[in-house]
Amino acid sequence: MESTTTAASTAKRAQSARSGAQGAKVTTGPRWLPWAKVAVFVAAWYPLARIVFFGLTDRLGANPIEFITRSTGLWTFVFLCITLAVTPLRRLTGWNALLRFRRMLGLYAFFYATLHFTTYIWFDKWFDVAAMLKDVGKRPFITVGFAAFVLLIPLAVTSTKAMVRKLGRRWQSLHRLIYAIGVLAILHFWWLKSGKHDLVLPKIYGAIMLALLGWRLAVWLIARMKARQA
Ligand code: HEM
Repeated sequence: MESTTTAASTAKRAQSARSGAQGAKVTTGPRWLPWAKVAVFVAAWYPLARIVFFGLTDRLGANPIEFITRSTGLWTFVFLCITLAVTPLRRLTGWNALLRFRRMLGLYAFFYATLHFTTYIWFDKWFDVAAMLKDVGKRPFITVGFAAFVLLIPLAVTSTKAMVRKLGRRWQSLHRLIYAIGVLAILHFWWLKSGKHDLVLPKIYGAIMLALLGWRLAVWLIARMKARQA
């Protein structure tokens, strides 16, 4: 009888240890999460792989530098939108694991912005500051893009877990720069295309960006109102 009780309590302990371990797993994310992260990590190289492939197969068109600048610019915009979509999607679906992709996606936005910027100052202008200033005078939308890129730098630098911990509440305030970046990115795109009377893409991408930023602003305002009423 005693040995049965001991066996039962041992089994109970083992069961509770197992469920404890499962509980820990829930906080670290589902089992497939590392694989999904690898898949997203690899997929995010597609825009660069496409440029390299087109370059190797002589398909970058008559003006390869323009092709690369446009492609990297558009993908920067797309990655900014995908990163901004993570939080609303998590709220709508209750799928908390989505948050685990946000930092990586944001860093890809910065990566493509860096390629976009490098293509311009290196391959387009060959670090010729006078040529750049002359170009900026003719096409002021470039300054707006530059401002967006500069604002992205502190967000990328403070994206590590250690920085999130170190900055605490200031991290959230700093990351509100994303509103300015989003607006500047729309302006940069709009201004460039308005000179060419081709506003279809800026309208579509701009509407998506504004909806994502507007959602955040609405959530923040509602929370503030509730806090005041309480
Ligand atoms: C967050 C930062 C930025 C974003 C989101 C962005 C986005 C874009 C987009 C969407 C385009 C148009 C692509 C198309 O024609 O389909 C573009 C074009 C361009 N961007 Fe940016 N950009 C950024 C930063 C910069 C910076 C820092 C520079 C240079 C200092 C720059 C210079 C240019 C130039 C020169 C073009 C026009 C290429 C051409 O058609 O001649 N951008 N950018």
